[in-house]
Amino acid sequence: NKDIYILGIETSCDETAASVVKNGTEIISNVVASQIESHKRFGGVVPEIASRHHVEQITLVIEEALRLAQLEPHQLAAVAVTEGPGLVGALLIGVNAAKAFAFAHQLPLVGVHHIAGHIYANRLEQEMEFPLLALVISGGHTELIYMKEHGDFTVIGETRDDAAGEAYDKVARTLNLPYPGGPHIDRLAHASEEAITFPRIWLEEGSYDFSFSGLKSSVLNYMHNAAQRGETVAPEHVAAGFQNSVVEVVTGKTVRAAKEYNVRQVIAAGGVAANKGLRKSLESVFQEKEIPFYIPSLPLCTDNAAMIAAAGTVMYEKGLFGTMAMNGRPGMPL
Ligand code: KG4
Ligand code: ZN
Repeated sequence: NKDIYILGIETSCDETAASVVKNGTEIISNVVASQIESHKRFGGVVPEIASRHHVEQITLVIEEALRLAQLEPHQLAAVAVTEGPGLVGALLIGVNAAKAFAFAHQLPLVGVHHIAGHIYANRLEQEMEFPLLALVISGGHTELIYMKEHGDFTVIGETRDDAAGEAYDKVARTLNLPYPGGPHIDRLAHASEEAITFPRIWLEEGSYDFSFSGLKSSVLNYMHNAAQRGETVAPEHVAAGFQNSVVEVVTGKTVRAAKEYNVRQVIAAGGVAANKGLRKSLESVFQEKEIPFYIPSLPLCTDNAAMIAAAGTVMYEKGLFGTMAMNGRPGMPL
């Protein structure tokens, strides 16, 4: 019963991250170098700039994670890395760093799906109970995932167009808010006494899929029409209306899925899970339904490598190893 220390590496988007996790549950070190400042003035992540930053940071970040953990490479059981999905150039930096590290220190390599990572962030804070429903909601994803047991993922619903965070960022941009816009809309929505009514996009009856581009368009149209009429719009009323619509639909579908699949635990993950309005809404419905509901703390909601090491530990225990032929897989299925 030896302790399992796994080094996690994450470079799928705009954070260069490395972490050491013990037994899939305990964070020993967790280093994240964020690039947000570099992408801000472009209003979104620029892939070429992301890759460049990853190249500059990756070695330093890995060394720092090991130094903070006070571990030598030979004390590690494996190296886990985000294999996909994500920006291909960004993924390649992490995958190549992981391969080089694994080769140099004769360690097994584990390729992790980024979304599995977001889900396993929860295991660093509480035990996972199955069957489980996960709502993964971020800048790149909006998915409802059913898990019968560890490592077993069934996507029961996903976005047909924009991810929720993407819609947040685009609406924020039309309100002249800085990137990433999610937290700014959240803040304005909270401060607002009034909310404009925007449509709720439920799709076909019974569907667990999401769609946010229609909602985004109706916000843009609303702004456009007001400008044409020469009216000034209170940004907080728009923010509150948009957020109400997102929160109502996401909460509604998540609750219905939790009941239909009769799950023992519901977890939320990803950057948008940090949203105050959504948190409050989900917490209150699941309290009422008496279904345990968790959201990881903020640093574990957004991209990090501890979640990759945590998910990688489960794969390591199942013997699911990658090879030196591993590549970044931008469209990797869960
Ligand atoms: O998980 P994450 O860090 O990166 C991805 O894998 O996408 O999520 C980033 C996204 C951005 O779109 C950001 O605007 C959104 O999460 N976000 C929020 C909030 N905080 C971050 N959206 C709504 N409300 C928030 N408080
Ligand atoms: Zn993410």
